[in-house]
Amino acid sequence: MRAVVLENYGGVEQLVIQEVPDPQPQAQELLIKVQTTALNRADILQRMGLYPAPPSQYEIPGLEFAGTVQEMGSKTTGFKIGDRVMGIVTTGSYAELLTVHYQQAMIIPKDLNFQEAAAIPEAWLTAFDALVDKGNLQKNQTCLIHAGASGVGTAAIQIAKRLKANVAITTSEKKIKTCVDLGADRAINYQQEDFVEVTKEWTKGKGVNVIIDLVGGGYLQRNVRAISTKGTIVQVGLMGSGKPELDLGTLLRKRITLIGTVLRTRSTEEKITLTQNFSELLLKDFKKQFRTVIDSAFAFEDIPEAHTRMENNLNTGKIIIEIS
Ligand SMILES: NC(=O)c1ccc[n+]([C@@H]2O[C@H](COP(=O)([O-])OP(=O)(O)OC[C@H]3O[C@@H](n4cnc5c(N)ncnc54)[C@H](OP(=O)(O)O)[C@@H]3O)[C@@H](O)[C@H]2O)c1
Repeated sequence: MRAVVLENYGGVEQLVIQEVPDPQPQAQELLIKVQTTALNRADILQRMGLYPAPPSQYEIPGLEFAGTVQEMGSKTTGFKIGDRVMGIVTTGSYAELLTVHYQQAMIIPKDLNFQEAAAIPEAWLTAFDALVDKGNLQKNQTCLIHAGASGVGTAAIQIAKRLKANVAITTSEKKIKTCVDLGADRAINYQQEDFVEVTKEWTKGKGVNVIIDLVGGGYLQRNVRAISTKGTIVQVGLMGSGKPELDLGTLLRKRITLIGTVLRTRSTEEKITLTQNFSELLLKDFKKQFRTVIDSAFAFEDIPEAHTRMENNLNTGKIIIEIS
């Protein structure tokens, strides 16, 4: 098969397509013919050598896929050859073929094409887990989602609205309209406004109940100021930096819960549970209530250009790669 193999770490010139042996499915795995994948910030860090994948003979990046079942291991059930499926993988979706545990694969709803399907797994599972499992966001509560126009952010806005919460987001000027169209009640242009001051006024001085933070860095100290007493901060990403200063006194006084989370390092069992909970609760509502936000689509050969677009923060929503 053809795959992007990282032989060295560095710039986008490292994203070279090579011929490598086809993967072979284990007993509980499906072999997937990948139609589309989508980019994630983690792919950029991995390319730079800053986010190691589990060791393997060929280091193929890529965290999510949409495609068709080509072969099934002897201990899989519920799938047949040709089924359209999507899901998350630990690594390896920048390739024409991949293997995945059968319970980590979700049937793609009929109305969705492969581009739309590839926009779902990583962003929506992350947002769902952060808001529901980690943040325990409840009806009528307030929620602040940083980087609202990111892949994860655009999913989180829609899930938080489904939970009937009041949603504020931060983003740059050009991306505000998309976030408001998705349901954000208060869009904060962080280039002009201070989210601590805005949320204080927006919540009538109470502070927000749940913060989903993809930025880290200096945002942590400000999140601690913006959160309510007994509020929860879910740290999902570190686009700013991973070594912030924090006034622990405020953390204690307000009895704040601070939770860190990542999908990639979870066990297969944990990934299966998350995938199945998401499928049961939300998958049927795509197109009806939820929409995928696709920024752009690139050919397999143009993955370097796609990385450059993401690195320059030009995307609103997901960047798709057409593999086949
Ligand atoms: N924990 C997990 O399992 C998990 C899973 C998936 C993603 N993530 C993390 O979630 C974050 C978002 O990922 P994504 O793929 O959804 O991102 P994305 O679609 O590439 O969106 C990123 C956007 O965030 C905004 N941003 C705000 N502050 C930024 C900063 N300091 N540096 C760069 N961009 C900044 C930019 O939009 P503006 O124009 O609005 O500034 C940028 O376009 C990443 O940190 C990623 O690693 C975590």
